[in-house]
Amino acid sequence: MARRKQIYEGKAKILFEGPEPGTIIQYFKDDATAFNNKKHAVLEGKGVLNNRISEFIMVGLERIGVATHFIKRLNMREQLVRQLEIIPLEVVVRNVAAGSLSKRLGLEDGAALPRSIIEFYYKDDKLGDPLVSEEHITAFNWASPQEIDDMMALGLRINDYLAGLFAGVGIKLVDFKVEFGRQYEGDMMRLLLADEISPDSCRLWDMETNDIMDKDRFRKDLGNVTDAYREVARRLGVLRENENTGAQGPVLVSDNGDNASI
Ligand code: TMP
Ligand code: ASP
Repeated sequence: MARRKQIYEGKAKILFEGPEPGTIIQYFKDDATAFNNKKHAVLEGKGVLNNRISEFIMVGLERIGVATHFIKRLNMREQLVRQLEIIPLEVVVRNVAAGSLSKRLGLEDGAALPRSIIEFYYKDDKLGDPLVSEEHITAFNWASPQEIDDMMALGLRINDYLAGLFAGVGIKLVDFKVEFGRQYEGDMMRLLLADEISPDSCRLWDMETNDIMDKDRFRKDLGNVTDAYREVARRLGVLRENENTGAQGPVLVSDNGDNASI
């Protein structure tokens, strides 16, 4: 593809101007960061896996009526998405105690929560993405009360879909993070799911062994990070099993002729 204008570089993705107004190309890097960039590594093949896993999930969500920014995957590392006005919040949905929730409330990792819990974090790297309440969100105008309701309802729908999808392949959905953006069409505005859903943004535990299959492997120095992501992709049917041979590693299933080993 010809040289394109870079709009933004994040920790795990780069955004380029898309081919038409209102579109963006989302490029998945192999970089992994944790603890607000204090820890960094390049994990070969991670971007390719996240591109495919996120595509699979976004397409599935569209099928059940959740509007997303996803338009189509372009190649191994890039997808075409709609340009949105991103709401500066990370919406976390939790089913099982883990991570910052366990720490904050003194819960045991793995304890079932009485119900799914939704939290909002303000997206600001300098502040380390602090937990915020609905009061903060409306007072500082990050989102309206209606948008908060919509994000909560969408978060729960996404949770139901993902929990079922992963349970079907023997994976427990512990928690995940999503982001939303506004799309304007004339006088109308609608909220779309943005960013990505991948093992970078979810906690995924094997149902039988409780083995960690997500970015906590990187955060906790457990090793075999991309192997775990590849296993998630394989179970979801994103990777063709019989091609997992030889030194080149598995070959990704492609519908646009760009098969490549990762
Ligand atoms: P936490 O327990 O660290 O707050 O994380 C909750 C969920 O959000 C977990 O699935 C990991 C995901 N997450 C991100 O996607 N990005 C982040 O920057 C953080 C802190 C968490
Ligand atoms: N994404 C955040 C970072 O880079 C935190 C995390 O995922 O743990 O630092």
